[in-house]
Amino acid sequence: MQSAREQWGTRWGFILAASGSAIGLGNIWRFPYLAGENGGAAFIIIYILCVLLIGLPVMLSEFLVGRRGGGDAVESFRNIAPGKFWFIAGGIGVLAAFVILTYYGVVAGWTLKYFFAYLAGGLWSTPAEGFGDYFVNFITSPVEPIIWQAIMMALTIGIVMFGVKKGIEAAAKFLMPLLALLVIVLAIYSIFLEGSGAGLSFIFKPDWSSFGDPLVYVAALGQAFFSLSLGMGIMLTYGSYVNPNIPLARSAGTVVTFDTIFAILASIMIFPALFAFGGDPASGPGLLFISMPDVFASMGTIGIVVGALFFLLVVIAALTSMISLLEVSIAYFIRKLSMDRKKTTLLIGIIIFILGIPSSLGNGIWENITPLPGMPILDSLDYIANSILLPVSGFLTVLFVGWAWRKEEVLRETQLGDRGLGQFFIWLLRIPVPLFILIILIFHAFKL
Ligand code: PHE
Repeated sequence: MQSAREQWGTRWGFILAASGSAIGLGNIWRFPYLAGENGGAAFIIIYILCVLLIGLPVMLSEFLVGRRGGGDAVESFRNIAPGKFWFIAGGIGVLAAFVILTYYGVVAGWTLKYFFAYLAGGLWSTPAEGFGDYFVNFITSPVEPIIWQAIMMALTIGIVMFGVKKGIEAAAKFLMPLLALLVIVLAIYSIFLEGSGAGLSFIFKPDWSSFGDPLVYVAALGQAFFSLSLGMGIMLTYGSYVNPNIPLARSAGTVVTFDTIFAILASIMIFPALFAFGGDPASGPGLLFISMPDVFASMGTIGIVVGALFFLLVVIAALTSMISLLEVSIAYFIRKLSMDRKKTTLLIGIIIFILGIPSSLGNGIWENITPLPGMPILDSLDYIANSILLPVSGFLTVLFVGWAWRKEEVLRETQLGDRGLGQFFIWLLRIPVPLFILIILIFHAFKL
């Protein structure tokens, strides 16, 4: 009965698709701000250490389970360890990806709206009410954001429907080089603006006392997890489409390198321009949708072009992440519902879209609904998924690879050899990685 599993066409197709997942809003609206707030170059060094010592081993673990298990996020654990409870790690991942996509689609819709506003004239001049109110009026209105969310979901569904090679890989091969080009052009433009130095020193000026601050490590580690799309079954699902000849460790190394370089380039794109025009170095939605439009308006006519390119970049970054989130659910439901890919994608995609609508309404007419104390619907879901589901799933996954799966088999699958690097990888997975994940988890639990 079992039909052959779909596969990536090329190693680069796989790497670009995984990078597309990793590179997203986290790189653009979170990393630059975190770096600026937490010690500049010192934070960047700590972040890179977190990526290498924690993020990379977790990503590799997910790839390994996916390729060896050869199934969706749940089935892969079951295939490797039949009759054991480890599949729960995958189940939590699928749930996380499903939940995240409901509201990620909403925010992605906002980025599309802004891109069109720069194309079609809506933002060619500063709106009468100012950028702050313009943004708030938009996201609180009951209908318009849902239409943009629907368009982003439709694009995602349209791509995932065509499958791993013809849909996801083809899109990544086209979109990722474009994304790289955009961030490079905009970063160079930003550096050459007069007064850009203040922004560069905001991001890079080292504050060495950060090394002694535990909170900086927690922030860096949380960011590494989110930015690398770990703990939600994505890298596991993508790993299941990789053929046995592809070296997984090197591929994971390439993906984390791309993600980190992109985060640094995004910082160089945003902060010099922001400081050159006296913008507000906020993080999150305020940075993208209020501070940056303000900056583009100060640039004069060229600001329209820069704004359009900037939001095109953000739309692409969001879209490739949405694709990966949807694929986790689709891989799972194709098996569960025994339906073909096209029908499954359409059905599940529409359900996710509908379940995302409350997150949009939660900014406006449903703002009084706060599932978690003081948090609107979107923030509540984001908290549950990112602060709880992701680390729990990641924690179980590394325990599985480090302790439960036979060491010789893991080493064979990594192709790292059974000495040096291979042993180091196993050691990392056994003790430091789970320990650090546990620390972020406890920290998040107390933050609520
Ligand atoms: N890794 C993405 C980023 O850095 C975020 C993301 C989260 C992507 C969840 C997919 C799923 O923005």
